[in-house]
Amino acid sequence: KKTSIGKSHAKVILMGEHSVVYGQPAIALPLPDISFTTTIMPRLAGQMIFTPTYQGPLSSLAENYEGIRQLILRLLDFFNAKKRPFTLHINSDIPQERGMGSSAASAISIVRAFYDFFDTPLSSEHLQTWAAVEERITHGSPSGLDTSTVASSLPIWFIKNELTQPFELNLNATFILADTGIHGQTGLAVSVVRSLLEEQPHTTKKSIQHLGELTTAAHHALQFNTLSELGSLMNQAQAELQTLGVSHPQLDTLIHAARQAGALGAKLTGGGIGGTMLALAPDQKAADGIIEALENAGATEIWTQTYPTN
Ligand code: PMV
Repeated sequence: KKTSIGKSHAKVILMGEHSVVYGQPAIALPLPDISFTTTIMPRLAGQMIFTPTYQGPLSSLAENYEGIRQLILRLLDFFNAKKRPFTLHINSDIPQERGMGSSAASAISIVRAFYDFFDTPLSSEHLQTWAAVEERITHGSPSGLDTSTVASSLPIWFIKNELTQPFELNLNATFILADTGIHGQTGLAVSVVRSLLEEQPHTTKKSIQHLGELTTAAHHALQFNTLSELGSLMNQAQAELQTLGVSHPQLDTLIHAARQAGALGAKLTGGGIGGTMLALAPDQKAADGIIEALENAGATEIWTQTYPTN
């Protein structure tokens, strides 16, 4: 029997974090260069049923272990594979708890590897249903945005409980993601926005609606390769997110440094109050300068993704 491989990748929210909670659209981008691979290998001897061997930087899989464990147990059951000896290897480049979809990517990659190992065709609907098994345990009530984007080579246009729509990207650009090193606090950030909405309903509703309009405009800019327009929309979104109270001094520092170094736009991504920021570079040369500026400004980790991908 062959060795089987299941792949997936990281994701990032380009536009629409926080406003998406209130029914506005969001856009998530796939990051195919930051990948997650599951390998299933047959074992020739022994009665071993399942031995997870974690390799590479995903050393702290334990935090997500329960969701993954349940997923694997159910897959073993589904394929009636409890007596079939094999070994499962996981190799991830995706950092955990950075809003980059590591848990969703693990689920998608594991399901793909299982279906490949058992020579079973897998529809994207079934793939999503399986991934939800893990995400419900890890995240409670997942929206499906993460599992859709880490399984897709296309960006996703998303409206909560309504729409998950891949769309064609027409863009020549490099995105740079930089980590503040400060733990992102999505739960806290969501409650900060909720409190503000109670205290200042009028202005907060306007900010949320404006974020929705900026996201719609960004959707257009991505399809028509209007890079400087996209950058400007990212900057405007950052200003609104700051108004909503979900930025952080170190996010502001990194965002400022990226813009000074030539980024067309820069904003926080995901929950905020720490976590990561995203910058748009016009080309590779500019990207190098922005990366250097971000390093000097204290970014603890930096990733890049160029489009079109090959
Ligand atoms: O950090 P992430 O990728 O999990 O994104 C959080 C996005 C929020 O809009 C802030 C919260 C949510 O549930 O949509």
